[in-house]
Amino acid sequence: MSTVTTASATREHRITVRSLAARKRKSEPFTMLTAYDFTFARIFDEAGVDVLLVGDSLGNVVQGHETTLPVTIDEVVYHTRLVARGIRRAMVVADMPFGSYQVGPEDAVRNAIRLVKDGGAHAVKLEGGLDVAESVRRIVSAQIPVMGHVGLTPQSVNKMGGYRVQGRDDDGRMRVIEDALALEAAGAFAVVLEGIPQDLGKEITQRLTIPTIGIGAGVHCDAQVLVMHDLLGLNDWTPSFVKQYASLGAEASKAARSYIDEVVHRKFPGEEHTYR
Ligand code: KIV
Repeated sequence: MSTVTTASATREHRITVRSLAARKRKSEPFTMLTAYDFTFARIFDEAGVDVLLVGDSLGNVVQGHETTLPVTIDEVVYHTRLVARGIRRAMVVADMPFGSYQVGPEDAVRNAIRLVKDGGAHAVKLEGGLDVAESVRRIVSAQIPVMGHVGLTPQSVNKMGGYRVQGRDDDGRMRVIEDALALEAAGAFAVVLEGIPQDLGKEITQRLTIPTIGIGAGVHCDAQVLVMHDLLGLNDWTPSFVKQYASLGAEASKAARSYIDEVVHRKFPGEEHTYR
């Protein structure tokens, strides 16, 4: 096979903004999971997950903070590099952490470029709607695809007064719709809908031409996203919108206890683990 054929075959199998748009047109749901390191990126990529998000949720599940607010751009760049090394097919989206785009569009473009150039991201994600539309426009003008994020936006935890479902009353509903429409108009290629009632998720999905990716937004979204620690059962607690597909926390604890037991009773290392 010639180099040209090989390269184009690889490109065809890669997930791109175009292939995700086509999935929406064909009503074929796609999947996004968070990932923060090489090993899980490789596992999820090989399993066929379409988009890997290096979420600022790393502040919670990797760093142990109560909120995502302390996460820095350097930390997201670092984790994006690890994830980018583990993938062959998936699209890698890097989250823009709090403080990396709120100052203004110029700062937003500079930091988005870092995530692509230094981190190896294919696209970036940021939270907010109308408020960040100009920054989205400018990042897209710099040739970087942008994923929006509206509804319950964790970086606004202090303004929202906690992690609260959004869009429950008429005003709130209108705000979420306007935010999503503003992102589409600004050139975003997809938008995460977090923590909103299912019928609002459905309405926004029908009104937008770009894919919606739901988390706690019901089954009608074009795609779904979960935090990998929730999916795998690695957290002490999971919110009600999460389905836990494995109990790796319990498994890991069991493995560690067996290891301790065998070491203290000199059962490990056995003959088969010993060099002669
Ligand atoms: O940071 C994150 O993991 C996210 C997802 C929950 C969408 O933004």
